[in-house]
Amino acid sequence: MASICVIGTGYVGLVSAVCFASLSHMVSCVDLDERKVRRINSGKPTIYEPGIEKPLAWAARKRRLVASTDYSDAMRDADFSFICVGTPSREDGSTDLSYVHKCASSIGWALAKRKKPGRHVVVMKSTVPPGTTESLEPAIRREGAKDFGLCMNPEFLREGNAMHDFMKPDRIVVGAAKQRDADAVAKLYSRINKPLLKTDLRTAEMIKYASNAFLATKISFANELANMCEKFGVDVYGVADGMGHDRRIGRGFLNAGAGFGGSCLKKDSGSLLHETRLRGFDAKILRAAMDTNDKQPYRMVELLRSLLGSLAGKRIALLGLAFKDNTDDIRDSAAIRVAKALVQEGAAVVAYDPQATANAKRELGGTIAYAPSAAKALRGADACALCTEWPIFAKIPISSFRKMKHFVVVEGRDILDKAALRKAGAKYSGIGRRGF
Ligand code: UGA
Repeated sequence: MASICVIGTGYVGLVSAVCFASLSHMVSCVDLDERKVRRINSGKPTIYEPGIEKPLAWAARKRRLVASTDYSDAMRDADFSFICVGTPSREDGSTDLSYVHKCASSIGWALAKRKKPGRHVVVMKSTVPPGTTESLEPAIRREGAKDFGLCMNPEFLREGNAMHDFMKPDRIVVGAAKQRDADAVAKLYSRINKPLLKTDLRTAEMIKYASNAFLATKISFANELANMCEKFGVDVYGVADGMGHDRRIGRGFLNAGAGFGGSCLKKDSGSLLHETRLRGFDAKILRAAMDTNDKQPYRMVELLRSLLGSLAGKRIALLGLAFKDNTDDIRDSAAIRVAKALVQEGAAVVAYDPQATANAKRELGGTIAYAPSAAKALRGADACALCTEWPIFAKIPISSFRKMKHFVVVEGRDILDKAALRKAGAKYSGIGRRGF
């Protein structure tokens, strides 16, 4: 059992903290937001993440997980500190590392101040450009900290599946300058029986960027393939299944749609592009993958236009606002971009999402209307546009679709029962699919 301090209680920080507590470690969290700290200490999540409630409530009750706004308090007994703060993109695509730098100074200050003897390992979990973790050493030392090591332990957590991805990962990567620090971090995961790779710091940092850049490229390939398939009257999902059986390719992340969103794929790919360009190299494949993704949401608008003609004055039921299912997150969501494009075309949009409506309201305000259910969004609509892969959309009864003014359905995911829609007489078109 180790004592771990987690700095930052966003998606990555809170999930890591709860999972470390479940792995029998003592966890303290630091966050500057007092409201978040109070909520966590009362055992309530500050994020929407399936499966986090129970283990968090248990860990908070047992005082295995305690949150604080005070670094010296949270770091007093910690053998490890995990940096889980945000690394947002700036306008020019560069990575804003100010939170990481602030965090490093605060860790140094808290380590210098405390009485506990022995080595402390500072672990980077935030996604940072290669070279960042090692660059923190002077700042930590400047504050007076002496016996500490640095590691990079990237996260591969998908929102909505983050608890599962932490406890049952495909792999764990630990980058370190010193073998003993890598061994110490590896031991924290000893109860997780999965491949663990030890690398140097920069390799670990690059593995994270490369993984997200590859996933982004794979989705954009699938989306480009979808647009090609449409030209040949071929169903892209059948093609993806056929390709996916080849173990060299794999079926994962070949689902075509309205484009990838979320807080990571785009941000990390953009950051990698930017940092690489600064070093004199233009990563053309990655750039093309991002360009394809920027255009993809507009395919939804084009498909709607091809079925309805002008969209001005048309009422569109938009199903899904989150960037994917099982989350309330709308950051870079393709659905939000579709909504904005439809509004610009003069359409009246009525949206429904099981979780993301409150966040969408903050972004879109009154430019669109929000329905309390899929059935209510569909009622009287000229067309339905499905943008998020919520499984519950598969269960919308045909009778709800029949309450639309025109039975026109456009799909940017692969959720709806196409056979049932066809049988019921829908006019259907999907990204990468034959219409009927
Ligand atoms: C992504 C990575 O999958 C995680 O491994 C990584 O740790 C995380 O970013 C991060 O860097 O923190 P996440 O953004 O939560 O996770 O979501 P994904 O499941 O990767 O989905 C991203 C987007 O791609 C969604 O909009 C989804 O709808 C879209 N997608 C995904 C497709 O359009 N097609 C697919 O086949 C798969």
